[in-house]
Amino acid sequence: MSSARLLSRALVGPSHTARLAKSAQLSTRLMSTEVRKTPRSLPSFSMEGKVAVLTGAGRGLGYEFCKAFVQSGCTTLAIVDLKDSEAKDAAAELSAYACSVGGLKPEEVNFIGVGCDVSSEISVQKAFSEVINTYGRVDSVVASAGIVENYSAFDYPFDRIKRLYDINVHGAFFTAREAARNMIPQGGGSIVLVASMSAQVVNIPQPQTPYNASKAAVRHMASSLAVEWAKKNVRVNCLSPGYMATKLTKTILDHDTALKKTWESLTPMGRIGEPDDLSGAVVYLASDASRFTTGTELRVDGGYCVI
Ligand SMILES: NC(=O)c1ccc[n+]([C@@H]2O[C@H](COP(=O)([O-])OP(=O)(O)OC[C@H]3O[C@@H](n4cnc5c(N)ncnc54)[C@H](O)[C@@H]3O)[C@@H](O)[C@H]2O)c1
Repeated sequence: MSSARLLSRALVGPSHTARLAKSAQLSTRLMSTEVRKTPRSLPSFSMEGKVAVLTGAGRGLGYEFCKAFVQSGCTTLAIVDLKDSEAKDAAAELSAYACSVGGLKPEEVNFIGVGCDVSSEISVQKAFSEVINTYGRVDSVVASAGIVENYSAFDYPFDRIKRLYDINVHGAFFTAREAARNMIPQGGGSIVLVASMSAQVVNIPQPQTPYNASKAAVRHMASSLAVEWAKKNVRVNCLSPGYMATKLTKTILDHDTALKKTWESLTPMGRIGEPDDLSGAVVYLASDASRFTTGTELRVDGGYCVI
């Protein structure tokens, strides 16, 4: 046998081929076990290493957004809400949640609760100072604090209308402005303003003109700020939920089954959203997964606005 033949036999001979086949089988098995055991997702959706600030996060959607961030690896959060004690209680609950779902030790989780009235610019500035003093930076901010009231136009007292705009519109603006002031020097960040499908449609049957107008303002505020800060790498988007089953809406709907039926029948998907139906959307907008997305509205409404 020629030396070349001997060499090729040594390289690709039966024992070598068998070894290759065995190792291929083994790696296929290992890979399939790994795929089964390890949930995989696009790394850019991770909130690991990000400092997140969420207003109106003591309860409702804001609280649910915190849980979504925790599930996506966020370990540094500021929970901002009107009552300091409620914000701190929520921070403690969410820390326990992070330890139970994420298998983290309490010392690996940094969650603070901060009392703040978003309708006061000074209060918002103080809240951000506390965050910066504690964590040194801020990467993702969600402005979820907001209120809704149902009055017909002729019955709505002006002081209440003013309060609604102070919270929903000016509160979102103060939050975004303070976020950007801190994000620009550090090289960028992502801001999510929570608007509503009411920015686009007129809800029926309940009258809520100032609320609808306030959310239309928030939606256009997101686009306008996005353009102002685009070159500074601060992205601003808005998330517009449809009807969601938060504690607040549940309380109303439990007493008014006819209203629940109306809302469900007006929604093509035939149901009211669960708060965690928004998880993917808020994580997308807050994380690097949306790094080329700014000034946009992401509607999550079961199809309500398309009919
Ligand atoms: N739930 C829905 O169906 C729905 C639908 C569309 C949009 N939204 C919007 O989502 C956001 C959250 O709504 P939610 O259902 O979670 O309401 P919610 O009432 O359950 O929670 C709102 C939170 O904001 C806080 N807040 C109110 N005024 C504040 C202030 N001045 N300063 C700081 N915090 C304040 C409250 O204390 C509360 O914790 C709101 O902006 C709302 O308009 C909700």
